[in-house]
Amino acid sequence: MTLQIKSFEEYKAAYERSVQDPEGFWAEQASSFYWKEKWDTTLEWEFKSPSVKWFLNGKFNITENCLDRHLESRGDQVAILWEANDPNAPAKSYTYKQLYIEVCKVANALKANGIGKGDRVCFYMPMVPELAIAVLACARIGAVHSVVFAGFSATALADRIKDATCKMVICSDYNNRGAKNIPVKAIVDDALSQGCDSIETVLVHRNTGGDVNWQENIDKWWHEEVDGQNPYCPAEVMDSEDMLFILYTSGSTGKPKGVVHTCGGYMIYTCFSFRNVFQYQEGDVYWCTADIGWITGHSYIVYGPLLAGATTMMFEGIPTYPDAGRFWEICEKHKVNQFYTAPTAIRALMAHGNEYVNKYDLSSIKVLGTVGEPINAEAWHWYNEVVGKGNAPIVDTWWQTETGGIMITSLAGVTPTKPTYATLPMPGIQPCLVDGDGNEITENDVEGYLCVKFPWPSMLRTTYGDHERCRQTYFSSFTDKYFTGDGARRDENGMYRIIGRVDDVINVSGHRMGTAEVENAINQHPGVVESAVVGYPHDIKGQGIYAYIITADEVNDEDGFTKEIRDVVTREIGPIAKPDLIQYVPGLPKTRSGKIMRRILRKIASGDTSNLGDVSTLLNPDVVESIKEGAKV
Ligand code: PRX
Repeated sequence: MTLQIKSFEEYKAAYERSVQDPEGFWAEQASSFYWKEKWDTTLEWEFKSPSVKWFLNGKFNITENCLDRHLESRGDQVAILWEANDPNAPAKSYTYKQLYIEVCKVANALKANGIGKGDRVCFYMPMVPELAIAVLACARIGAVHSVVFAGFSATALADRIKDATCKMVICSDYNNRGAKNIPVKAIVDDALSQGCDSIETVLVHRNTGGDVNWQENIDKWWHEEVDGQNPYCPAEVMDSEDMLFILYTSGSTGKPKGVVHTCGGYMIYTCFSFRNVFQYQEGDVYWCTADIGWITGHSYIVYGPLLAGATTMMFEGIPTYPDAGRFWEICEKHKVNQFYTAPTAIRALMAHGNEYVNKYDLSSIKVLGTVGEPINAEAWHWYNEVVGKGNAPIVDTWWQTETGGIMITSLAGVTPTKPTYATLPMPGIQPCLVDGDGNEITENDVEGYLCVKFPWPSMLRTTYGDHERCRQTYFSSFTDKYFTGDGARRDENGMYRIIGRVDDVINVSGHRMGTAEVENAINQHPGVVESAVVGYPHDIKGQGIYAYIITADEVNDEDGFTKEIRDVVTREIGPIAKPDLIQYVPGLPKTRSGKIMRRILRKIASGDTSNLGDVSTLLNPDVVESIKEGAKV
């Protein structure tokens, strides 16, 4: 196993070593894994193109490290523990041995359906064990998984299938989520009707049962394809830099981009970070409440925990069903030791009152984690005191889809915590703050653009099908640095606090969204001339979506039109992107070169119209007054 740091002194020493001799440090971590052929060069990199390669010419398969390697020592230990949406349904569990067999059978079924190394397989599934099993089955045969969060719309799914020219979609019939029953297969059918010509097979897992439309030459039932398969499937030999998966994420421009992660570095880093951040001990039950449709689920439900031989829990449902005590009931039931969730869930549950927490015995909890958005002080203290009873250190983990693993965080019980601060970088991570001119700010007690100046094993390698976009987005703002898109503060002790995005990306309930993407969706409505979307502070969601819309004709029935706009966005992206507030405006403030002045719109949306700065240089200064008057906050 990789190093597990046990004291602040050890952390400081490991950090120092990882900066002085990064290659030696990571080679040491990598040597505890199972390789068919050892790598010959640990790292080759330059950030101009960019080109980053770790563990060059190493040969192995990540699933042999997640599964086969554990069979002897922990074959009968639970690998995946699954809790259903319905609180009365029995939990399911898969030991490492059982998981290995299931993965092999699905891998053989994929092969039998023409999937091989390098083929892209799209997933559109709820949080059922079969999702994790099939993801691992792809990795076993060298196919590339592209998991799409099952809350996205058919159109968003179709966009992602087309971008990666996927050969297969794996989905469920229906999905139970809270009190809702969602027709997953029907959404896939709708996506396929939008020109996904590359799809040859749709593999349908029967989850809840119920009627589905069937297209004989394309649709296949999971049970018919998988059940009779051989429980042994040799693992495809992969190179460290072969693609492991694509995961789409939003940026400030254009359509979501497919972030590409490769096998070697991702394996080393997710395991290393999992063990150190959460201080996982033999026998612990670890629970991350994320969905596998996001990077958190990839790295810290599936890969990191399984590589580390942990018991990882998957939950099908939502925090408020059947009531706001569900998370805590599950923690008590399964004696969860490490609990990892998002600030938006913490704030939502906090609003329901302490009695939901206090009803349950949470004494098993040793570590509390948070991820996805800045955590406000009130939520941090509630989490610490009411949930953790002051006994469970909080790890506020800052990272991104692109970073593959946790970058800045406390190590539970090992390094200090500070409310609202992600705190210190992981060993091997070299963050820095940069000013507007691109100069690195070396002193403390400062704010700046958050960059990373040295490669780490799990960083993105490219954006699928468009390497130039990767360079432009992440490596062109500041010379020789990866730019995160976030602003951060560094305190007098060198601890980092993430302030939030400094680009046109908003973070709604921990879901990352490009304002341009939402605008494009709104503009699909035939009555819309132009729109501008900004984030505004929201008590529960962190940020809400505020849309300013210019319409072709006067809006007489505002409620009706607003509903139409929300429906269009739901159709184009999904319900998570629906605007919370919509203001119909006669114009948008623009510079003389025609650029929308978002700064002004953000300020008005935040409820602060006091000092909008100099608007006299605008093309249309009058419009600002009228927007101020009609503001929805
Ligand atoms: O703005 C940061 C915020 O989420 C963004 C990354 O979003 P995504 O790629 O969807 O990954 C989320 C899960 C890793 C970041 O640019 N973010 C993530 N974690 C934190 C955070 N902001 C503040 N504190 C965090 N702990």
